[in-house]
Amino acid sequence: MTGPFLSAERIHLDYGQIKVLKDVSLTLEEGERHVIIGPNGAGKTTLFKVLSGELRPTAGRIVMEGDDISRTAGYQRVRRGVGRSFQVARVFHEMTALDNVAVAVEARQSFEGRKPGFWRISATPEVIGEATRMLDELGLANLRDTPASAISHGDRKRLELAMSLALRPRILMLDEPTAGMSPTDRTAAVKLIDRIIRENGISLILTEHDMGVVFQLGTRLSVLNYGELVVSGTPEEVRRNPMVREIYLGRNAHA
Ligand SMILES: Nc1ncnc2c1ncn2[C@@H]1O[C@H](COP(=O)(O)OP(=O)(O)O)[C@@H](O)[C@H]1O
Ligand SMILES: [Mg+2]
Repeated sequence: MTGPFLSAERIHLDYGQIKVLKDVSLTLEEGERHVIIGPNGAGKTTLFKVLSGELRPTAGRIVMEGDDISRTAGYQRVRRGVGRSFQVARVFHEMTALDNVAVAVEARQSFEGRKPGFWRISATPEVIGEATRMLDELGLANLRDTPASAISHGDRKRLELAMSLALRPRILMLDEPTAGMSPTDRTAAVKLIDRIIRENGISLILTEHDMGVVFQLGTRLSVLNYGELVVSGTPEEVRRNPMVREIYLGRNAHA
């Protein structure tokens, strides 16, 4: 393998006149857990979308294992193992927890070329079995037949995680996975994410506001501020950085 597992090279992203990402470069090594922090509006979610292929950068390249994947569509990146967390909007509210995960399992099978045609729940025993195991794994077994719309926020976040994991990513991308969780749910979620990525050898790119979570999960930290990546290093290096202290302690009380 040449170069890093995944890298963003000099990424710029403009929305019309607004420059949301400015010359952002970062790398993810295999097994690394790279946390991107920064105030609201800094461009974290936009950077995720560029990495996952949902947005095409105005300039710059995304490179995975030596291949330029900048022009590769999102679903093709998923096939290579770049898994982005499903957003709340992508959970099908009227469907049960089980069916939501089953859709993700089927999506993966279709990426793997094991299933012709577009995603469709054919609900084979194999698919249902895998979706059921995933729900068990994430402690959602009791919600198996509950429609997603009736599931609490914290459980819904776990359902999204189950759907992401059903894609069997090599890189898991989680955009604020513990947002809005109670402290108890948050602690449990962090343990769960930690265990799953360890057991499956998954690399992680994460954005998070809660500094406890950041330091528990992160092996590398980068700070985005107004679309610029201002600091990148080990959690300890970043914690000591005076600029980070100013950005956080000066402006962002809850972080
Ligand atoms: N679709 C869009 N059109 C125009 N501006 C956008 C769009 N999405 C995000 N932005 C702007 O880009 C900036 C970064 O947003 P975002 O990536 O969501 O930041 P973060 O995730 O760090 O809070 C914000 O100023 C936001 O208003
Ligand atoms: Mg965001």
